[in-house]
Amino acid sequence: MRRFEDSALKRLENQDPFIVSFVGGKGGVGTTTLCSEVAAFLSSKGIEVGVADLDLFGGDLNIKFDLALSGKTHTLSDLVPFAEELDSGVARNAFSETRVHVYVLPPLKNPRQVSSIYPSHLKKIIDAASQSFNILLVDCASGVNPLTLPVVSTSKLIILVTTPEIASISGAKRIIDALEEESCTSGWLLVVNRSIGARDSLALAEIEAFLGMRTSVIISEDTENARRLTDEGRFLFREKTHLARGILLLARNILSRAQRPSILLE
Ligand SMILES: Nc1ncnc2c1ncn2[C@@H]1O[C@H](COP(=O)(O)OP(=O)(O)OP(=O)(O)O)[C@@H](O)[C@H]1O
Ligand SMILES: [Mg+2]
Repeated sequence: MRRFEDSALKRLENQDPFIVSFVGGKGGVGTTTLCSEVAAFLSSKGIEVGVADLDLFGGDLNIKFDLALSGKTHTLSDLVPFAEELDSGVARNAFSETRVHVYVLPPLKNPRQVSSIYPSHLKKIIDAASQSFNILLVDCASGVNPLTLPVVSTSKLIILVTTPEIASISGAKRIIDALEEESCTSGWLLVVNRSIGARDSLALAEIEAFLGMRTSVIISEDTENARRLTDEGRFLFREKTHLARGILLLARNILSRAQRPSILLE
């Protein structure tokens, strides 16, 4: 196992920044859950991983990592005024180390600050921070958000999370269309979360035909474990459940793409 971790790190250390954006077509599809699980998995492999919460108003990523928003905790709010001249060291210092050694940047302290933010600010902050981590994950608000589009469209990899429901699939399609308009060249992974298998009202083939994209990972619905483990402050990927198997599949898929960025273009 140790050997795997060492080689995983070695291949990541000398490469370009690797930014992975997590987006969901509708609220509550599991974007933040999957982003935090992947981050904790990568960190458990010895990889230095940062996570920026770009769900500017309602982000709750800090809760998944037990990170209190005390006066001492830096957030995106502290970086925005310096976005234009930010270097990677300053950006990195705003991320707080958490108990699982994932470095987290919570979103805005004051939602009113959004009126002074331009998309270029967020792009500069993310680009600067990404230089200090092996992998930087970005958790986005659901739906299409003009402020975060430039960050998402220039990520190496986009994780598009949907549930097998019409409203969520429609939202996912709007994201794909918006990013195509931005001439996005990122790689994509489509994740169908909260699946109940054959009892899903939409079949996988219908989802794929509508989105024009193959599914990379299907993750099962497991409200009982998701709720209990989250409330106990535990990560889902560590358990022996179908849910954990899906999360691990996603996390390993992301890791292999980070190790071999050329496969994004295949
Ligand atoms: N596969 C799953 N099975 C059961 N519950 C799940 C699953 N995935 C996520 N959940 C639960 O769904 C809820 C919403 O998840 P999460 O906050 O990750 O969604 P989100 O897309 O980030 O939502 P938001 O729009 O609020 O940002 C959480 O209570 C989470 O535990
Ligand atoms: Mg979320």
